[in-house]
Amino acid sequence: MRIAIVSDIHGNLHALEAILEDIQNQAVDEIVIAGDVVNQYPHSRQCFEMVMALNCPVLQGNHEEYMYSVGINQLFDQARFQPIRWTHAQFSQTQLETMQALPRVYRYPDLLITHATARSLSESITLDSSADDLRAMFADTTEPFIVRGHNHKWLTRNWDNRTVYTLESAGVPLGGRLEAQYAILTKRSVWSLEPRFVPYNLEAALADFSDTYISEIGVLGHLLRLELLTGKGYLNRFLQQYLQAVDANQISLENAVQVFLQST
Ligand SMILES: [Fe+2]
Ligand SMILES: [Fe+2]
Repeated sequence: MRIAIVSDIHGNLHALEAILEDIQNQAVDEIVIAGDVVNQYPHSRQCFEMVMALNCPVLQGNHEEYMYSVGINQLFDQARFQPIRWTHAQFSQTQLETMQALPRVYRYPDLLITHATARSLSESITLDSSADDLRAMFADTTEPFIVRGHNHKWLTRNWDNRTVYTLESAGVPLGGRLEAQYAILTKRSVWSLEPRFVPYNLEAALADFSDTYISEIGVLGHLLRLELLTGKGYLNRFLQQYLQAVDANQISLENAVQVFLQST
């Protein structure tokens, strides 16, 4: 049994196309899309339609949840969620309902696939997550192998004879490499994971990230473009450093981004 698992495409159509082409030569039995197909890069609708047309399991990620929560959860009215509102406007009501109905886990014998954890769409796993943390995240599940995305960096953690693999992002890799990335899982006596690194048309992806697009999604677009260019994380670092001050109206979002970019 060979499965290709693709996570965190985030609207990067060029990366998705390169990965699907690579998968064609890998003799896999099935493809699983592990969530966060949409949001951040300009081609969310095309990516969503492309993965739904694969007729394969597509799991829900926290960015799909954001899409169907816009207009319902007032949190998303804040300035910093402009990219999410822009992406939301690309979708029909039917597509938003389809996102809401996407499953949160998919199972093979001995293998659980989910976006973040069994209990949450947005929980992080890091090197600092303790065995107790991991036990709680996957309580009520028993599979010895777990594959998930969400954190956009390869990571393997073990506890209680269980293994959880975190995949790199297909479209927004943050581990320093610029290729589109996904994994092939093969079951012999046990499951094993092969990371795949696929060169893709980064120039075209950067060209799509035009000044016009950034003006439509707002200043955070500068940070997203920098992530595309470097393969390193800036958005979360920015939010950790400045979100409190922005929310308290001590600095505007625009000025905070400017100060952050000057200091990095
Ligand atoms: Fe993601
Ligand atoms: Fe996510």
